[in-house]
Parts: sequence; structure tokens; C-alpha cells
Amino acid sequence: MENVPGSERDSFTSKFGIIAATAGSAIGLGNIWRFPYLVGENGGGAFLFLYLSFVLILGIPVMLSEIVIGRKTQRNPIGAFLKLAPGKPWFLIGIMGVAAAFMILAFYAAVAGWTMEYLYQSVVNGFQGKSPEQLGEMFTSFREGSWRPILWFLLFMVLTSLIVISGIKKGIEKYTKILMPLLLLILVVLSIRSLTLPGSAEGLRFLFKPDFSKITGDTILQALGQAFFSLSIGMGTLITYGSYIRRNDNLANTVLSVSMADTFIAVLAGIAIFPAVFAFGIDPAAEEGLVFIVLPSIFQQMIGGYFFSILFFILLAVAALTSTISMLEVVVAYFVEELKLTRKRATIISSLLISVLGLFAAGSWGWFDNLTLFGNNVFGLLNSSVNIMLPLGGFFIVVFIGWFMGKKAVEDELSNEGSLKARFTIVFKFLVKFIAPIAIAIVLLNQVGIIRL
Ligand code: PHE
Repeated sequence: MENVPGSERDSFTSKFGIIAATAGSAIGLGNIWRFPYLVGENGGGAFLFLYLSFVLILGIPVMLSEIVIGRKTQRNPIGAFLKLAPGKPWFLIGIMGVAAAFMILAFYAAVAGWTMEYLYQSVVNGFQGKSPEQLGEMFTSFREGSWRPILWFLLFMVLTSLIVISGIKKGIEKYTKILMPLLLLILVVLSIRSLTLPGSAEGLRFLFKPDFSKITGDTILQALGQAFFSLSIGMGTLITYGSYIRRNDNLANTVLSVSMADTFIAVLAGIAIFPAVFAFGIDPAAEEGLVFIVLPSIFQQMIGGYFFSILFFILLAVAALTSTISMLEVVVAYFVEELKLTRKRATIISSLLISVLGLFAAGSWGWFDNLTLFGNNVFGLLNSSVNIMLPLGGFFIVVFIGWFMGKKAVEDELSNEGSLKARFTIVFKFLVKFIAPIAIAIVLLNQVGIIRL
């Protein structure tokens, strides 16, 4: 089935296009910047173990639930709940999702701006001859600078808006199809270099040998937040993308391919980073700066490092871009469908609003460094709000699918109105009815101190 004749709605045009766009949303700075530094901060293997478990038993069901809601309703996250449960408060999940998209994009585009700075530094050979310590100082002083982080951030917002204005098909599919496989390839090359550095074995041990005594309530929450963040779930991105998926595409296959690709890239990033961290004697808990110190150090030890470093930061910026467009798309789809703005106007207004918040995030170590709450700057607040907002959104989404959406509607989506077998349905139902809501609730209640793990 193609688009309904006469409908204005855009849709993805090929099976690979859907997977590419959804994977493009999932794969990004979450895998290559956020995941490694959280692993480093949270003691390595045990964090990885928790993360992988959460992807499998919570992430995949939430992701499938979102896509089911999106394709069923063909709406943005707020419109979707208004359509499925008119007159009930479920649309509040959609509002929370749009708010999360807003907040995440604001700090995410700031980090995307850092990758542009690092692309620039690669081109002008700015890492040349610098020790890891000097690279650390370089990162800090860049972030503390006044204009640069902000200009790069704004540039990135402009790029994102331009692509979103051009619409789904032409905009998103075109860019992801070729560039994601290339990113994978370069990560493999980096991993090989990292693994062949003297002293790298310790890094592999750190990443893969869990030390469960390192797990605290906070580690668990961070692993859960990161699993949701990396899969782009819990805020309606996949409701929005699901709404562009055609009726005859297989939802479960899409979800499995995307979550596997996303997880694989994150683990691969870990394999590229940690052996080098130990080989160079870098502190694994170097927080947000970790990859920006480690990667340039690896490039300096590589034949063709100059070239690889440019290519890598281009690809990382593109990976970030395919994620930022998916976040902006959530807000824009809402403005277009519910507030009846044109796509262009919706994009311009929403990106301007987001940019205002983003200025504070990008300038969190510069101009706005004394703007703090409980010791966190704006960037830190937005970055850690992920850990609560996304699991909370995911919780309500699975509860909705498991208990309120109606068995037949869910089954119809999973099986494309009975034309697919969808044998996994029973497992899926069990996960969304019981396991996922209970597990997410336990982690969140633990965080607010109502129960103690
Ligand atoms: N999943 C993206 C990444 O890993 C980030 C993202 C989060 C995108 C939420 C959309 C929604 O980089």
C-alpha cells in the first residue's frame, strides 16, 4: 500500500529507508560520546551488563510499542494519544515527549557543535604532537571559551532545520543510507588500532569484566536512561517515525535490526575507546571530555591519522545530524499537525525556541558557567533529565500498549492485519504488561528513595 491518494502525509519509500532513518536516529552521539563516558564513570563491565539487559528486556518492547502507536495513528506523539484515547489524560505522555525532545535537542546540539570544532581541529592539524593531558586542556579551554561552542551549536541547529524543512523522504533517507555503514567501518579501523596499542588488554578487561560491587542505584538509573537515550525511545521519536512507516512493512523486524545495530555500534565504540584509555593512561572517568581526549590520541598513533580523523569527525557529525533531525521532527510534526502551521514555519519557530535553551547549554562552561542548580550547570541538568524523562515516558507507553490500547489493535499492527505470523506476540505482551512497567517503576522509585535497591 502506498500513501493514501490525496493525503499529504509523507512516508518512507523503502524498507531500507525506514531502517536507515530509524537507525540514523538511534545511532549518534549517544553511542559514541555518551555511552563510553558513562561506562568509564560507572566502573566498566557491570554498567555494560546492565545496559545490555535493559536494551533487551525493556528497550526493544518500548521501541516496538512506540512504532505500533505511530503507525496505527499516523500522528505526532500528542495527536497519537488524542486519537487513541480521546478525552483521557494519555495525551500528557505526548506533551512530555515533545518537551523531552525540546530539552534533549538543546544539549545534544551543543555536543554536536563540539564535534564540528573537532572536525575543524582535525583539518588544521590542531591535535598534532599533543599529549593526552594537553588534549584534555584543549577540550576544557574550548568548552570554557565564549563564542566558539555557541557558534558551532547555532550552526548545527541551522543544518538540522534545513534538513527538516526539506521533508522526510528527501531529507532523511538520502543522508543516512550511505554514511552509517561508513561510520561502522571507520569504528572497526579505530578498534583495531586501539587493540594493537601496547597495554590495551587492561581496557578490554575493564569493559567486559563486570565488577558487580560497582553497581549503585544511580548506576542502574544511568544505565536505564542511556539504554532509552541510545535507542531514541521514551519521548515519541519513534511514534513520529512510526507514523511514516507504510502499512505493509514489518515493524518487529525494523525494531530488531535497529536495536541490534545501535547496540553493536555502542559496544564497538567501547572497544575503540577503552583499550586506548588504558594504553595511554587516561582517566576513564574523564566525563564528557573522554572521547574528545581519547580519539585524537588514537589518531596520532595511526598511519593516515590526519585523514582518518577528518573522516571520523565528519561521520560523527552526520550521525549526530540524523539524530537531531529526528528530535526536531517530533516538535515539528506536532506544530504542523496540531497547530496547523506550515512545515517551514513550524521548523523555524521550533528551532528558534530550542536554540534559546541551547545557548545556555552550549555556554554552560563559558558565559553561563555560574548559572547552576544543585551544583549542576544547564547542560548537566538537561543531560541528566534524560535519565528520568525517557524511562518515565517509556513506562506510560508500555502501560498504554499493554493495558489500554486493546488487544486487537496491537495484534493487527504487529501482524500487518494478519498477513504476518508474528509468533513473538505473546512474549511481547508479557513484557509490556508486566516486566517492563514493573522494572522501570522499581528503578524510578529507587531513585526517588521510595524503595531501596
Ligand atoms: N539515540 C540518539 C543517540 O544515541 C539520541 C536521541 C535520543 C535521538 C532521543 C532521538 C531521541 O545519539
